[in-house]
Amino acid sequence: MKKYLIFGATSAIAEATARILASRGEALFLVARDKKKLEAVAGDLKVRGAAQVNLAVMDANDFRKHPGFLAEADKRMGGLDVLLVAHGTLGDQKVSQSGYAETEKELCTNFLSVVSLLTPAANLFETRRHGTLAVISSVAGDRGRQSNYVYGTAKAALSTFLQGLRNRLSKAGVSVVTIKPGVVDTPMTAHMKKGLLVANAETVAKGIVRAMDRGSDVVYLPWFWRPIMFIIRAIPEKLFKKLSL
Ligand SMILES: NC(=O)c1ccc[n+]([C@@H]2O[C@H](COP(=O)([O-])OP(=O)(O)OC[C@H]3O[C@@H](n4cnc5c(N)ncnc54)[C@H](OP(=O)(O)O)[C@@H]3O)[C@@H](O)[C@H]2O)c1
Repeated sequence: MKKYLIFGATSAIAEATARILASRGEALFLVARDKKKLEAVAGDLKVRGAAQVNLAVMDANDFRKHPGFLAEADKRMGGLDVLLVAHGTLGDQKVSQSGYAETEKELCTNFLSVVSLLTPAANLFETRRHGTLAVISSVAGDRGRQSNYVYGTAKAALSTFLQGLRNRLSKAGVSVVTIKPGVVDTPMTAHMKKGLLVANAETVAKGIVRAMDRGSDVVYLPWFWRPIMFIIRAIPEKLFKKLSL
């Protein structure tokens, strides 16, 4: 049995992931900002076989609470094995363009809050020479596009931060897993027109569990996003700026 701490535990992707972990009898500590939703998710995971389900309510942007909270969660679980960070917001790009305040909010939630959580977590795992830090980034960070470049910027910064962290923590035997889903059918994308490539949360969750088990470096989920993003990244800027993506 492994001990997992999950931030953004009420997200559709995190919940689907936690269901798989619960059915394997893992111990879970769930963190989210909506108490009612969190209690409903926790109840379901207990029924599915989780060895233990702890919960805590916290807004990811409450940075000052992070170090103390992490130490407390680690103590309550008797030593964490895996940290999964899944919270995020896909803000309105047009609103971000109209004023900086919304952009700052997006960068805080999708990038800075994760850095704030990972900084003490990385130090803890590094000292112990044990553990896995798994974080949901996005293919949106692989290339800036006019339709969502603020969200993409946060995810790109996050992926680079994770890359550096991996480079540092590999020496201590700690895995840092960057998870890059493509479009997933969740409340986050409910307003979007879905194409052929859309995946469901359960499929992505299976990939996340596999990546955490293996201690993978960077995974694209589903797998076909890796070649797609390779091509997207390779399009010359001269041509790319003429596209309306
Ligand atoms: N869906 C996609 O197509 C897709 C693609 C690539 C990457 N991702 C990433 O996958 C992760 C999970 O997203 P999802 O698709 O499962 O979306 P979701 O179901 O909409 O979940 C988003 C979660 O983030 C939480 N959250 C937002 N702001 C927060 C804050 N300040 N403090 C604490 N929690 C906060 C939400 O909590 P509330 O319920 O309280 O609002 C919700 O649980 C995100 O990091 C997202 O960027 C998603």
